Amino acid sequence: MYNLPYTNKQINIPYLLKIGNGKICKIGKYLKDKNLPGVALFLGDGTEELVGAELRRGFGDNGINVVHSQVVSDISIESITQTAFQLPPATDVVVGIGGGIVTDITGFVASTYMRGLRFGFVATTLLAQVDASVGGKNGVNYEGYKNMVGTFNQPDFVLCDLSMLQTLPDREFRAGLAEIIKAGRIADRGLFELFENHPIDAFRNDQSLLNEAITRAIRVKADVVERDERESGERRKLNLGHTFAHAIEKCGNEFLHGEAVAIGTVMIARLSAHLGTATQDEADRVRRVFERMGLPIRTEIDFKRLVKALKHDKKKEA
Ligand code: GLY
Repeated sequence: MYNLPYTNKQINIPYLLKIGNGKICKIGKYLKDKNLPGVALFLGDGTEELVGAELRRGFGDNGINVVHSQVVSDISIESITQTAFQLPPATDVVVGIGGGIVTDITGFVASTYMRGLRFGFVATTLLAQVDASVGGKNGVNYEGYKNMVGTFNQPDFVLCDLSMLQTLPDREFRAGLAEIIKAGRIADRGLFELFENHPIDAFRNDQSLLNEAITRAIRVKADVVERDERESGERRKLNLGHTFAHAIEKCGNEFLHGEAVAIGTVMIARLSAHLGTATQDEADRVRRVFERMGLPIRTEIDFKRLVKALKHDKKKEA
């Protein structure tokens, strides 16, 4: 079991990041220690069934009251405002439990409602654990544009409980791996090589291997964010492959985000080889690794359509 305490020095908030099995039961004790007895829960679809019993046991043992609980899955600005208005005055902290949509809604509502409430995340999908729950951006899409409304604000804590991934569908699991591979490609060659040296089944079945991959990916992101929280420079490299990925997503719903990231990262590697900023061998390695993990590496979307969508994308850096 890994613990990765991470302190965001720039904004001077002690930020607790815990990774491992059975972490969900720690929230009650954590909230008690922080003197945050009134908790509002924002839940993803199915998370009550996944963690409800254990979560409430941990709260009960530590004198934590659930003052509000609701499933949040819609992301329109209007429904977010309605959601915020339902939070009772006894709310000391908002805890979002789910995937990236839930963590973004939680972070956004908590950051803006009544000029800010405390908040934390329990990330239940691989994509949320390695990407959406880490970094402090809390964005909401508007009219098809990504993260048009949002905040930079760090949560008090993020818990990544690996036991929750056991029920994650294979396709979503693979899509989460795409962001880990991307992190390896950006700043951790050893992490990238884990995917060259192990088959997909190993990541699904070997908890310590998965734990290592998740921890290293989070470390890559957390380190970059710690140096450049507001994306004034270095942080942009975390967007590797995302310009194409967002354009692909804008052209249709065929791909999950992680799948679009896989295609986008392969496209960038090919382009880099073409421009001479990377070798053909590197581009081939990138393609092979995504292929090995059962991820798509190309799209049939018409190139002109893709370029049009790309021009509208806010994240211009690849
Ligand atoms: N919340 C995701 C990020 O900050 O990148």
